[in-house]
Amino acid sequence: MSTDKIDMNDIRSYFAEKLEQHGATPRGVDWNSNGAQDTRFMQLARIIDRPERPYSLLDYGSGFGSFYDYLVNQGVRPQRYVGFDIVEGMVVKGRELHAGIEGVEFSQTDDNLPVCDYVVASGIFNIKLDTEYDTWTEYVIKTITRMNDLADRGFSVNFLTKYSDADHMRPDLYYADPGYLFDICKRRFSRNVAILHDYDLYDFTLLVRKKLD
Ligand SMILES: C[S@@+](CC[C@H](N)C(=O)[O-])C[C@H]1O[C@@H](n2cnc3c(N)ncnc32)[C@H](O)[C@@H]1O
Repeated sequence: MSTDKIDMNDIRSYFAEKLEQHGATPRGVDWNSNGAQDTRFMQLARIIDRPERPYSLLDYGSGFGSFYDYLVNQGVRPQRYVGFDIVEGMVVKGRELHAGIEGVEFSQTDDNLPVCDYVVASGIFNIKLDTEYDTWTEYVIKTITRMNDLADRGFSVNFLTKYSDADHMRPDLYYADPGYLFDICKRRFSRNVAILHDYDLYDFTLLVRKKLD
């Protein structure tokens, strides 16, 4: 099965359009509300086990860097924050909103991303458009493998859940199987993996801890 079947330009256009329509707001990255975005951030941030120590963080699919702002508001600002997004407008907006802040950078390409203590990804796998389910699953595995390679201490990532109400499910969205992805992470990446599926949204978060010291 090949992930080359996925047209990333369609995904790119989808998110570029959201930003154009709604600007630098949660809707601009396709979230319904601030509240849900913060709830997701709170779960993802649980991978940062020693926030009192200086740490670096790669935000994979960063949008314009709202996760960085969340961490600053929580008083756990990373020493180095790298936001990566495939949409140029997101990267431009991220740079604009964080101009002059030391230790914050944005990239539009995956090629030279640095290994960081932590990698997080919020909402990057939800929109599959008309891609076949199995093809998208292959793409998810390939991408989380890349995140694992870039994470020294661990990574966290969220997905819409297959345990959603059937009458609300849409064919253009990807509803992941928590058990299946847990198994992949456990067998391939680390013995220490958690599924967080208790925060009242139709999604779940995986935490993959690689170092516990
Ligand atoms: C739902 S938005 C969330 C943005 C941000 N994580 C947040 O929560 O504010 C998903 C973002 O992921 C980006 N994205 C989607 N697929 C990606 C990929 N394979 N690599 C990098 N960025 C990606 C999109 O351009 C979009 O900005």
